[in-house]
Amino acid sequence: MNVLGIETSCDETSVAVICNEKLTANLISSQNFHSNYGGVVPELSSRAHIQIITPLVKEALSKSNLKLEELDLICATAGPGLIGALLVGLTFAKGLAFTLKKPFVGVNHIEGHIYSGFLMKEKPEFPILVLVVSGGHTLLLRVNSFTAIKKIGSTVDDAAGEAFDKVAKMLGLGYPGGPKIQQAASMGNPDKIKFPVAELKEKYNFSFSGLKTAVLRYIQKNYADAVEISLSDKNDIAASFQKAVISALVRNTKKALEEFEVNSLSLVGGVAANESLRTSFINLGERYNKKVSIPRMEFCGDNAAMIAFRGEKLFEAGITSPLSLSPYPGLSVADFSG
Ligand code: KG4
Ligand code: ZN
Repeated sequence: MNVLGIETSCDETSVAVICNEKLTANLISSQNFHSNYGGVVPELSSRAHIQIITPLVKEALSKSNLKLEELDLICATAGPGLIGALLVGLTFAKGLAFTLKKPFVGVNHIEGHIYSGFLMKEKPEFPILVLVVSGGHTLLLRVNSFTAIKKIGSTVDDAAGEAFDKVAKMLGLGYPGGPKIQQAASMGNPDKIKFPVAELKEKYNFSFSGLKTAVLRYIQKNYADAVEISLSDKNDIAASFQKAVISALVRNTKKALEEFEVNSLSLVGGVAANESLRTSFINLGERYNKKVSIPRMEFCGDNAAMIAFRGEKLFEAGITSPLSLSPYPGLSVADFSG
């Protein structure tokens, strides 16, 4: 079975090929130019996807020693994401499926992340407690199989990655904020400032907007504008902020580990690239005697390998998507129930 995966939900164009369950290509082209604008500009993102998608598909096929006609299944991210950006990958994939007369599967981007631990040699074991931390989502899930995902908690406001990006902007560190905060934090004192970590009544939910405001107030109170903040103070703010985010993520995950019987603990999504968070999860797994699954860097951020993998699993479960406007009849994060 030769599977092509396409991901264009935001600012990464990615094309992957899985041949007989082996990943033979996972090409990722990042649109770094958005850093000039302080965030992703949707129209520019769509245009950049259009320019690169054909050469990327050709390169992924040649790396996999495959001809177009040898593909058995075409998968593409169907949402959530920037609509114009999504449409580039989706219409490309549907056009290809139509021409080749091959099945098409529209994949939910978050589900791609959820199962990304399976791209590693050491696979997680069901049931899995999964923490999804990306730019748009923060979700704690109990994943019992490839078709059963139960939501335990989520953010009630900002996503963890969004908080990283916004605080980086406040500190004038640039975009994307996560890696910049991590870098600054590695040189700062995480105990310098005690930023609040919201604890909600729904014990598995997260809230990061109060923390974000606390950082803003701290900057406004102590510095007239970001230009005045010394490098070492920026590092301390970044380290203290990062510590607060990680403690909220670890705290809720710990509560869930105490309540739910799982075999593995998995950390996925763009923020899973954060070294301190990865270390905290490895320690958590050791403490609770769970197998820990954290994808390597290329599978943390947006990538098509996770889309091809998820698409193939849906196909195996008998799910394909129409080539019409309704792209995705499969599971949806919005109504995970069991
Ligand atoms: O999963 P992802 O690539 O895209 C979405 O689906 O949203 O996640 C992107 C998010 C951004 O907010 C980015 O700042 C964050 O992941 N991120 C990080 C790190 N690397 C990326 N956050 C914290 N530490 C990092 N090292
Ligand atoms: Zn993502």
